[in-house]
Amino acid sequence: SESVENFTIDEKLIDRIFNPRQEFSHKGTYGKVTIAGGSYGKIGAVVLATKSALKTGAGLTITLAPECGYDILQISCPEAMFIESGTRFIDHFKSEDNTVYGIGPGLGTEGETEKGLLDFLKDYHDPLVLDADALNIISKDNKNLKLIPERSVITPHPKEFERLFGSTENSFERLKLAREKAAEFNVFIVLKDHHTQIISPEGNVFYNITGNAGLAKGGSGDILTGILTSLLAQGYSEENACILGVWLHGRAADLAAEKHSKEAMLPTDVINTFGKVFEELN
Ligand code: APR
Ligand code: MG
Repeated sequence: SESVENFTIDEKLIDRIFNPRQEFSHKGTYGKVTIAGGSYGKIGAVVLATKSALKTGAGLTITLAPECGYDILQISCPEAMFIESGTRFIDHFKSEDNTVYGIGPGLGTEGETEKGLLDFLKDYHDPLVLDADALNIISKDNKNLKLIPERSVITPHPKEFERLFGSTENSFERLKLAREKAAEFNVFIVLKDHHTQIISPEGNVFYNITGNAGLAKGGSGDILTGILTSLLAQGYSEENACILGVWLHGRAADLAAEKHSKEAMLPTDVINTFGKVFEELN
């Protein structure tokens, strides 16, 4: 692992990665996202992830959620299509063609949801984004880790990371473990924290320095899931989607804090600030 490198994500790197919108294009150019999650009382999580995918440029966005989220989603996100899959929680996952899945926000860990997710992963082999309760379900049994499609992006916060891979003494040991696991399972680990780290299967580590404590609120992670899924659907490589996505999430949060304060800013304000960040990039 001598050739492994550590990078701090800076504006030069972001400028190199960012692809501006092409004039001669159509919605098919920008891919199809399927956000899967939500359960009774946690429909907001999937609303945030869906809005976030819509506001970061995906061509077509679908929400796969239980029936109890139908009215909520159709009203709060009229640009997204809705696929029903269960009553109060998801009990099966429909496998769609040509879509990138982002699974987990508000999903819950009901037995039927667990079975549905594990059955789905058994015959699904394209990279996807797994977050929150999708990771908590996988954590229930070490053998489940092998079901994560190669080159997928997983976005654990420190507690979810510990549930997945075990506890470590300090952040140095945790990073070492993350590099071992990213390589072993051929996945990208977005280790969410004050300074989020992206660990590639090759062992490279990208440190993000945008973002602030105004993000320390329920829902901030859900919008990152929407961003990452949307960027993958638009054709960014897994590594570039992680780098650009995590940076954009933090940059939007920094601009939202200037306007609203860290105390008052909400994940919704962060989503509504994506436009300012794209203005800066274009
Ligand atoms: N400084 C910078 N960034 C921060 C800070 C901070 N002090 N606190 C949080 N963040 C960022 C993290 O880097 C991450 O991108 O906000 C996001 C928080 O994500 P999560 O921890 O997943 O939080 P949340 O949105 O509440 O998750 C929603 O999923 O993880 C489950 O149980 C959790 O129900 C919750 C749901
Ligand atoms: Mg979360």
